[in-house]
Amino acid sequence: MFEFTVQARSGRARTAQFVTPRGPVQTPMFMPVGTQGTVKGISPQELRDIGSQMILGNTYHLMLRPGEELVEAHGGLPGFTAYPGPFLTDSGGFQVMSLGHMRKITEEGVVFRSHVDGSPVNLTPERSVQVQEALGADVIMAFDECPPFPAEREYIRASLERTIRWLDRCLTVKRKPEQALFAIVQGGIHADLRQRSLDLTLPFGTPGFAIGGLAVGESKEEMFPAVAFTAERLPENKPRYLMGVGHPEDLVAGIALGVDMFDCVYPTRTGRFGYALTDVGRLNMNSSAPRRQLEPIDPECDCYACRHYTRAYLAHLLRAEEMLAPRMLSLHNLRYLHRLVERARAAIARGQFTEWASAWGETYFKGQT
Ligand code: GUN
Ligand code: ZN
Repeated sequence: MFEFTVQARSGRARTAQFVTPRGPVQTPMFMPVGTQGTVKGISPQELRDIGSQMILGNTYHLMLRPGEELVEAHGGLPGFTAYPGPFLTDSGGFQVMSLGHMRKITEEGVVFRSHVDGSPVNLTPERSVQVQEALGADVIMAFDECPPFPAEREYIRASLERTIRWLDRCLTVKRKPEQALFAIVQGGIHADLRQRSLDLTLPFGTPGFAIGGLAVGESKEEMFPAVAFTAERLPENKPRYLMGVGHPEDLVAGIALGVDMFDCVYPTRTGRFGYALTDVGRLNMNSSAPRRQLEPIDPECDCYACRHYTRAYLAHLLRAEEMLAPRMLSLHNLRYLHRLVERARAAIARGQFTEWASAWGETYFKGQT
């Protein structure tokens, strides 16, 4: 279980098969975010049809509502959500920091007020793993702290060292034997702190490693050196997961640096706001031009929206505030990212990733508004 077999390389990019208890997945892959036990507006059948492989769920949201016992009573996330494939759950620390009120971090864990009903909640490494065991995902994440950006160096150092002690505690808690726990490397944008986090994290030998603490407000010029530094020091034979990254150009850049897994709310969120991802940049479907355009969003795309609807129709639905619009734009955007990683995998298999990536960037950045 959790065998990770690299099948081809092109530069630092690689394509691999990652075997999970609920089936094999091909990397590089993009994981749609199903925070509340649903990828907003998209059914499990639609997810399958567009080539989704692994779905992300959130410990933080699901423990507060409906509570992990109810999910467990359905046989875990696959039974609860009726998506029968692989799942990954995030551990909750990151969401507490962005959503909880009056949070307080101590050595023990995080105390915060629920964004649902204001009640006090205590989230510790032990509790996070217990909840993730009940949710039943194939891959579960260590309970970590992702410092805000910017943060003091000394704070980041203390935080990454506490994250290591939390990792140690996570690994002592019982989990299902068919659940892999991934450690998360922190250290912000500082190479020496990333190195410190790597030195302390790698000896745990977890079946996969995440690159955390990025895409929190730093510039791309700051983020990518940190991704490169971390990715090249992670084991060759285990999956590397760049958390919270999902703009098309960041997927391509991350893959070039040897990243295997990505997740982000971006495709669904920007879709709900009326934006469509394409090879010539992001289309604003709220603008006036699409209202008269009789072509699909993207003639190359094989999603339901592109096979059936004109831009003009979708723009009309958006203006009329019909719920099919955000659904179809989310569906298209997810398919766009899945197709993007499929094309990246094919280019890696041909040994021509760099050539493919620069050709893709050529049209994408030209069209970017
Ligand atoms: N999602 C995006 N970044 C992070 C991170 O650093 N840690 C966790 N747990 N989740 C994330
Ligand atoms: Zn489409």
